[in-house]
Amino acid sequence: MLAHPSHLMPSGNPSIGQTGEMTTTVLVTRSVPDKVAAIGVPVFTAGAVPRAIGLSRAALIKHGFEGKPGQTLVVPSPTGPTHIAVGLGDPGRPTTAALRNAAAALVRAAGKRASLATTLADVPGVEASRAAQAVVEGALLAAYRFGGIKKEPNKTTLTELVLVVGAARANAARVGSERGQTTAAAASMARDLANTPPGYMAARHIAEKAVAVGHACGLQVEVFNRDQLAEMGCGGMLGVNAGSTEPPRMVRLTYAPRNASGHLAMVGKGVMFDSGGLSLKPSDGMITMKMDMSGAAAVLSAMSTLKALRCKTKVTGYLMCTDNMTGGGATKLGDVLTFRNGKTAEIHNTDAEGRLVLADGLSLAVEDKPDAIVDIATLTGACMVALGTKLAGVIGNNQPFIDAVRAAADTADEQVWQLPLEKAYRKLLDSNVADMRNIGGPHGGAITASLFLSEFVGDVPWAHLDIAGPMAVDADDGWLSKGATGFGTRLLIELALSFRG
Ligand code: BES
Ligand code: MN
Ligand code: ZN
Repeated sequence: MLAHPSHLMPSGNPSIGQTGEMTTTVLVTRSVPDKVAAIGVPVFTAGAVPRAIGLSRAALIKHGFEGKPGQTLVVPSPTGPTHIAVGLGDPGRPTTAALRNAAAALVRAAGKRASLATTLADVPGVEASRAAQAVVEGALLAAYRFGGIKKEPNKTTLTELVLVVGAARANAARVGSERGQTTAAAASMARDLANTPPGYMAARHIAEKAVAVGHACGLQVEVFNRDQLAEMGCGGMLGVNAGSTEPPRMVRLTYAPRNASGHLAMVGKGVMFDSGGLSLKPSDGMITMKMDMSGAAAVLSAMSTLKALRCKTKVTGYLMCTDNMTGGGATKLGDVLTFRNGKTAEIHNTDAEGRLVLADGLSLAVEDKPDAIVDIATLTGACMVALGTKLAGVIGNNQPFIDAVRAAADTADEQVWQLPLEKAYRKLLDSNVADMRNIGGPHGGAITASLFLSEFVGDVPWAHLDIAGPMAVDADDGWLSKGATGFGTRLLIELALSFRG
């Protein structure tokens, strides 16, 4: 275990909390255990109100509960456990997204109650394993708390979740519950990595974490240091790292099942702290920049589940990890960097650094000859301006692969919206001294950033996810808990599981 910097380390508490550990026990049973503190009961906007609630439709409405998605009503009972009515909207076919949201709403309404049961996974119209997975994901992700660096670390208050389902659904629900626990634990690990303060989570630390996680999860892990990156010609990584006292790390993860049915590469931006470099960010824009490694965190976390979920596709992952600082050696405006694939870029703004580390990662990924490459990065404020904080941008060079990413996003309910890879904007990147400059004009920043990346993927089908917007939330919101969201982790898992080379 690498020591954290001693001037930052609280005495006697060197741990960074419970990274990736889920402390909630999840059970699937056929009847409600009598000791639970509360029971979540789904209620639609029309049709019969389940008897267990003990209130009529009119009485529920009088209390302001109409059964709309996200609504909850706590109905105390003088004898048994509290019942919590959970709105599911229109009767008919609920979606897995509605179940995930409802489970999250239930956990939030339950407050500090430690044990919860629910019949949400038993609603008809959604296949039992998919329903159970969604309910478990919604509940565990809503219950997530970052431990923090505190004398008394924050803790999840939910210790037990019981899914109550009919006998015919029990086996499938168990499978889905297991999957949900796996995917929620992965997304929680991504959140932990991004929430951890930058002094505790430099490139060396995430690389060490990747070694531990990779070995525990059946991945091959290779870590490359500064000298090795120099040897390999990764001038983007070196250029971004030049102003830092922390060394860079590139991590290559390999998941190689027997008789793999295809090969997918994933490249994650791992800027451990983005000060902007000499093109320094203002303070307000810098405070969230410990999370600028959220792409790398999503790749590592997603890959940690592939063996457990019996993924049939080979997956290679690249974590491009360095911070972006202003030290005396920092890359200057006008400097030219040479990337792994031999192309060069003139630096016009050191704050456009994500594309520089991705350029090396994409070049390396292409050399593995994968069937497709997905990259994930907190890349541009422009994408956040365009799509807000709920949606990630997706841009690529191959519509069928982009559609596969969109389908995975849909299943995970991590929303994406496609932007065009508009070739007419390529001239905005023209430079007199290098193959390109690293920024375009004042407009279309998410697109010009993607055009830059497209110079490094050759003709491999490629999709880029810009997660700057959904990287974090300011307050608890459904299954998103305040702070880093882990966005993209479950999307990447779905993409790998559904990938057909
Ligand atoms: N990491 C930032 C993008 C970002 C901003 C992520 C806000 C999450 C929240 C990225 O490195 C950056 O600084 N991009 C610049 C690019 C510009 C200089 C062309 C930006 O978006 O301002
Ligand atoms: Mn930046
Ligand atoms: Zn950045």
